[in-house]
Amino acid sequence: MAIDVRAHGRVNLIGDHTDYSGGWVLPMPIAPFTSITGDFVDGDDWHLSSENDPDMVHLPLPIDDPSSVRPEWGRYVAGVLAEVARSGRRVRGFRGRVSTELPIGSGLSSSAALEVAVARVALSGEHADALEVAEMCRRAEHRASGVPCGIMDQLCIAAGEPGRPVLIDCTSLTVEHVPLPPGVRVTYEFVTPRRLAGSEYATRVKESQLATEMIGPLREADISDVESIADPVVRRRARHIVSENHRVLDFVAAMRSRDHESMGRLMVESHRSMQFDYETSTSTMDAAVERTLAERDVLGARLTGGGFGGCVVALRRDG
Ligand code: GLA
Repeated sequence: MAIDVRAHGRVNLIGDHTDYSGGWVLPMPIAPFTSITGDFVDGDDWHLSSENDPDMVHLPLPIDDPSSVRPEWGRYVAGVLAEVARSGRRVRGFRGRVSTELPIGSGLSSSAALEVAVARVALSGEHADALEVAEMCRRAEHRASGVPCGIMDQLCIAAGEPGRPVLIDCTSLTVEHVPLPPGVRVTYEFVTPRRLAGSEYATRVKESQLATEMIGPLREADISDVESIADPVVRRRARHIVSENHRVLDFVAAMRSRDHESMGRLMVESHRSMQFDYETSTSTMDAAVERTLAERDVLGARLTGGGFGGCVVALRRDG
């Protein structure tokens, strides 16, 4: 095979629903990955098979509307190829196969991993840095699924390495690798499937925009600004984002000073904030977090990612 690319999934240690308002996030790529193998072919059509679906994706180029492609996973492929073409690069024909170790719809960013893998194939031999790849893939996700996601998943996957957390400033779009301190490890557990399309994700994005119109950029706001918001729902949403941005920076400071207890406490506070203020958790996810917190070696646990289901991420004492 001429082409063999990989893109890993991710968990988010802390900083959820802060990316689309320009805040801070601390995700970490994980070992399971999506791979694409295949060869470039004459012409410019893409043919992809998947070990998870008997139906093949056939994309004659150029692609006008990625959101109408079938089977559905082909929409992410089409979205990325449309973005690569929009960047002025020629998309070469390709025939290949996708396989993945990431459970689909589990909150481990299987769609972003597919997007980044497709971009790595389509851009092979071209110069494109991680940020450009991530921005193309984010726009592809918007076009493919209609979910107005932030940049976290795509940038973490494009720029990161498994097991190494990345601190992303979603305003300057800079990425800094922050190693986990010795003595702790991160685990994650799949609880229930989730789908962001059709969920309240887009409503949360709108609510955060409303809050920004009221008090200015949320990453610069403080809790007294939040308390000035009259609408109780928008106030709660803003309180989550403003406090979560602080928690990300406090968590990074705790990582640097090897303060394991504070790291765990901040993860629990982050979960409570999503549970009560941002309302992206569910009773099943809350119960799974409580169960995890009751385990002896667990320092902290929280729902990770977009929410409404998915995975619980935990920080544990090592050894
Ligand atoms: C999803 C989105 C991300 C981010 C998270 C919540 O994973 O794709 O951009 O908003 O939800 O932190």
